[in-house]
Amino acid sequence: MSIPGPVTPASDGINLSDQDFEAIAKFAYKHFGLAMSPSKKPLVSSRLSRKLRKQNIRVFKDYLKRLEGPNADQERSELLSLLTTNVTQFFREPHHFETMRNDVLPPLIEKAKKGGRVRIWSAGCSIGQEPYTIAAVLHDMCPDADRYDIKILGTDIDPVVVRTAEEAQYPREDFDGIPKTYKIQLEPGSKPETARIPQHLRKKVTFGVLNLIEPFPFKGKFDAIFCRNVAIYFDNPTQQKVWQAFQRVLNPGGYLFIGHSERMSGPAAQYMKTVGITTYVNTPG
Ligand SMILES: C[S@@+](CC[C@H](N)C(=O)[O-])C[C@H]1O[C@@H](n2cnc3c(N)ncnc32)[C@H](O)[C@@H]1O
Repeated sequence: MSIPGPVTPASDGINLSDQDFEAIAKFAYKHFGLAMSPSKKPLVSSRLSRKLRKQNIRVFKDYLKRLEGPNADQERSELLSLLTTNVTQFFREPHHFETMRNDVLPPLIEKAKKGGRVRIWSAGCSIGQEPYTIAAVLHDMCPDADRYDIKILGTDIDPVVVRTAEEAQYPREDFDGIPKTYKIQLEPGSKPETARIPQHLRKKVTFGVLNLIEPFPFKGKFDAIFCRNVAIYFDNPTQQKVWQAFQRVLNPGGYLFIGHSERMSGPAAQYMKTVGITTYVNTPG
């Protein structure tokens, strides 16, 4: 990709030129699907110039080269973290987990007990608190879930958050959001102020790096997908493509949970019927 724009020295106090911002916005749209309006320029400008100063990059064009160079993965991951937020929490938007408990999991557990395959996907899972919440609800309802073919997948575009998710260690106060009825016995973390998700919940979740704007690599279908507070970064055409891609990998009757400020739209909307707050069921044909 050739990136236009003048050479702007990225030293102390230098802000991005409009062309620099455009180049970053173009890159972020092409590679991450992120839609960045000009109103984001001050924020992006201050975060990026701080980063470039730290890396001693004095010419903006050199930074753009790095995004295409041999260490591009690391640079891209850092750029993504700078443009998005990884904010998440256990039992975030708790009504979705009530729906899981009351409507989604009972028939899926029955299906698994009869030898069926159950797959749940947390897409854009950040540091893993969403898929571990799903694992906690599942374990609470079916303590012997290990005997059945029930799997939870957590994916994110950012390899750094995926590594954190795999480690499953969080500041102790993060666990305060877990309802006391769950009685989860945490393991000690590597530091006194951290604790770790216990092994029986960790092993229910597999993690991977996956960009939602690229074709999905899955062979089988899912029974439920959580994609919450991710599509908010995409423009409407990209959102519509992602909703459609989810609809195609959902079993009939499968659930899609999206974030509180997101809405279903585009071709998938004719199949994805609303059954609750930001909750949809795939009802094809
Ligand atoms: C705010 S977090 C949401 C975490 C969790 N789903 C929740 O609601 O608590 C947004 C996550 O989306 C990820 N993300 C952004 N663009 C993405 C893309 N194109 N493909 C996959 N993940 C993406 C970010 O890396 C970030 O971890």
